[in-house]
Order: sequence, then structure tokens, then C-alpha cells
Amino acid sequence: MEFTVKSGNPEKQRTACLVLGVYESRRLTVSAEQFDAAVGGYLGNLLRRGDLEGKSGQSLLLFNVPEALCERVLLVGCGRERDLDDRRFQQIMTHVATALNETGATEAVVYLTDLAVKGRDLNWKIRQMVEVVEGSQYRFDLLKSKKDAPRRSLRKIILSVPGRRELAGGEQAVIEGVAISAGVKLTKDLGNLPANLCTPSYLAEQAQTLAREFPALRVEVLEEADMERLGMGALLAVTRGSAQPAKLIRLDYRQGPAAHKPYVLVGKGVTFDTGGISLKPGEGMDEMKYDMCGAASVLGTLRACAELKLPLNVTGLIPAVENMPGGRATRPGDIVTSLSGQTIEILNTDAEGRLILCDAMTYAERDEPAAVIDIATLTGACIIALGRHPHGLLSNHPPLAHALTAAGQAAADRVWELPLWEDYQEGLDSNFADMANIAGSRDGGAIMAACFLSRFAKKYHWAHLDIAGTAWKTGKAKGATGRPVPLLTQYLLDRAAEAQREDGRAAH
Ligand code: BES
Ligand code: MN
Ligand code: ZN
Repeated sequence: MEFTVKSGNPEKQRTACLVLGVYESRRLTVSAEQFDAAVGGYLGNLLRRGDLEGKSGQSLLLFNVPEALCERVLLVGCGRERDLDDRRFQQIMTHVATALNETGATEAVVYLTDLAVKGRDLNWKIRQMVEVVEGSQYRFDLLKSKKDAPRRSLRKIILSVPGRRELAGGEQAVIEGVAISAGVKLTKDLGNLPANLCTPSYLAEQAQTLAREFPALRVEVLEEADMERLGMGALLAVTRGSAQPAKLIRLDYRQGPAAHKPYVLVGKGVTFDTGGISLKPGEGMDEMKYDMCGAASVLGTLRACAELKLPLNVTGLIPAVENMPGGRATRPGDIVTSLSGQTIEILNTDAEGRLILCDAMTYAERDEPAAVIDIATLTGACIIALGRHPHGLLSNHPPLAHALTAAGQAAADRVWELPLWEDYQEGLDSNFADMANIAGSRDGGAIMAACFLSRFAKKYHWAHLDIAGTAWKTGKAKGATGRPVPLLTQYLLDRAAEAQREDGRAAH
């Protein structure tokens, strides 16, 4: 879909479809009002007759409105003005995208930018519109022999801004929305791809493809032999049962000043998690193909970064493995030495994410990062604690947690922080090694996993995003969500803006 912004009055648009809002009960938005005045009160009459209440979810498609220059008008119910929050706005835009697709219109001019969304400005609305429309068009039918995506005529959506002064900001919002949507799509595609196709080698190839498309990205893939030489005993313990070779994928995006330290994103890339010898129960195990969604979100975020040409240094690190049982697989009770030198008693081979992440996190030390953020479908316990709306956030540096919380709020891709107190740490004591990979009880499982990781994050500012509940939807609408690409991209946009401000100050 092509998106543009435009200023101008609704009644002046010669378009295939004009999209206007109606609040409950039967009250036209500012733009709709303006249009209505130009067409002799046609819309007002229609509302008075009771054809549209204005409840959200309702809409009415009008043809040949007398005296109008446009071919169609899509009147969209927006609910009560004072109830119009992020969620409602997203619902309205999803409805608009569906309704427009059902018309034969090839383009539409959308005036819902005039809706009063609580606490949100024009550019937020524009960016969100792009993201919601792109998201609602997503299908994963690559592996269906008959594609179920219907014929689509809609090619172009024009988003209105009140005046010429708002054009530049609006255009930037579109650019951000498009870049984030492309990152989200890449992340969804990789997540949805089954584990027989999406292997660690496939993820490495995808990183290489991305680097070919964006020359600002450089890729390097470490093989098992390299990891053995380095001493990544924890990561290698996870891959032992698999026939697929493990990969440690490294992507470098260097568009900031050389003196600026990189932001490092570490993504859990377990392409399938059977649990290993601590085998998972069969029910729903297919969903463990999504256990590489952290890795996919790192690729998606780097794609967005590169498309936006952010003046930053960012590194993506993806430990990619398959967790399988087998004759060579790691056994419960095995003790391994991590890259950090700390020894780990693997009491449960299903707590594998932390084992691959800890070695990647130690490896990240050599980059002297400004901050390290790991993204992982790490614990079922996080879903128990928080449900499936926010990502779990744990951090050893409150300002970093604060910046991520703010970015999540701004991008409508929210996090919720859990405590990472010293009190929890003793739960990981082992009788035979420096630590165990699981605690003795199931209490606070998401926190205990983060406690384990924190032992490998002593040398830098670090935050952990547990995306077990947010990376994909289960049930009838099963599919990857592409989260937290919007959050991470926003975090990096904020860092770029911050660097620019500091630059400005230094020049004075
Ligand atoms: N990938 C899973 C976590 C997971 C499970 C995410 C279900 C989403 C849905 C992870 O590797 C795992 O198996 N974690 C264990 C940890 C336990 C053994 C301490 C879990 O959550 O049960
Ligand atoms: Mn597991
Ligand atoms: Zn896992």
C-alpha cells in the first residue's frame, strides 16, 4: 500500500473514496461537518433519519452524494469522543481497512486524522494508521497452494493534515509507519514459517539477505567450531541433540559517529523448542516454532533502523539453535562452562533460552555497548504473571527501564516491569556448579529467568524483554504479532533524537 499526506478541504477532493468520522451519537467530526456544509447537509439529514448512530464498528458506504466531487463516502462510526483512546482508534482503523478493501475504490482520502485521541498528536495518529492498515492486510499464505487473499483494488491511502505546516511532520510519520510495518512483516513471516523451513541456517541466510538489501548492514555468522573455540559451552549444550547446526548471527549497523557505543539487541533464536530431554507435553507444541520470535524481532528492528537511516550504531546478536532430544543431547544434571567462565548445572533442558542468551550476552561485552536489550520468548511464567498484552520487562538499570517503558507507551507496544531484586538470586543456587539453570520452585518463573541472565550482564546496562505472551497469538487467529518491533524501533528513534539534541548542545 502506498501512503501519502495531503492538506486540503474534504469537499475539494476528487477521490474514489472519502473517509469521514461520526461520533456517537450522530455527531459529525470537524472534517465531516465541513464536507456536509458543502453538500447541503446531506450527511446530517442521513444521521437524523437514524441511518448511522456513530457507534464504533459501524460504517456506511455512500455513492453519488449530491454535489460532491468524490465517488464514494465511507462514513465511519467512532464511538463516544471522550472514550476515544489508542485501542478504540486502532479498532476504528482496522474497520476502515476492511471496509475499504471491500469497495472497488483504488484510493481513498482519510480524514480520521481529525479524531481526538486521548493524549495523542497528529503524527502519532498518522503513524498508527499506517501500521494498523499494513497490519490488517497481512496474510501468511506462502504455504497454501490456493491463496485465500481476495482481489484487492485499494492501492493508495491519502491521509489528511489540517494545513501545509503539518505536511513535513506527517510525511515523517508515514516514513516511520512504513519502516516499522516492514520490520513487523519480516518478523511475522519468520515467526510463522514452520521449523522444518525456518532453521538456524535459514535465519543466518535471512540476515545475509537483509544485509544485501541494506548496505549499511554488515553480517557475520559464527559456526559451531567458532563457538567451541570461544568457549560457548552453554549455547552449545542446547544444540547437542539437534541435527541442525547452531549459528551465532551478528549484524552490525554503523551509521552513528564512530565514538558512539552501539546499542546491542540480543534475540533468542530457538527455531524449535521440544524441551530437549526434559521433553514438553505434546499439546500445543507446534507453537514452539515461535521460540525464535526474539531473533525475528531483532532482524525486523534492524530492517526498520536501516530503512529509516537512523544515525546510530546498533548491533544485532542472534544465537540460533534447535532444542531437540537425542542420543547426543544434554541430560538434566549435566554441568557446562559458559563463555563467562561461570559453570551451570542444567537441571532442566527446557530452560534453554537463558543458556543460549547468556553466552551471546557475554560475547556482547567486547562491543562495549551503550546498552544491551535481550528479547526472548523466555518463560511460560511470564504469561501467567502478565497475560498476553504487555511484554515483561526486567532491567539492571532504572533509566533504561524507564526509556523502554516510555517507548512502549509512545509506540502502543507496551511493557510492564517486574522486580529484579537480589532477594530472588539465591533461588538459583546449585550444589555442584556456580548456578543452576532453574530455581527449585516455580514461583516467579519470569523473574528467576531474568535473575539467571543478570549474572551475565554485570558489565553493562541491560534490559530483558520476555515476549512469551506477546510474540504470537494462539487459538483461532494463531499467528505472529511482529512485536516488539514497534517498541524497539521507537526506543532507537528516541536515542537518535537524544543524540541529535546532545550534538546541538555541544555545538553551542
Ligand atoms: N520457550 C519456552 C517458554 C514458553 C513456553 C514461551 C510457552 C511461550 C509459551 C522456554 O524455553 C521454556 O520452556 N521455559 C520453561 C522454563 C522452565 C523449565 C523453568 C517454562 O516456561 O516452562
Ligand atoms: Mn524451553
Ligand atoms: Zn524456549
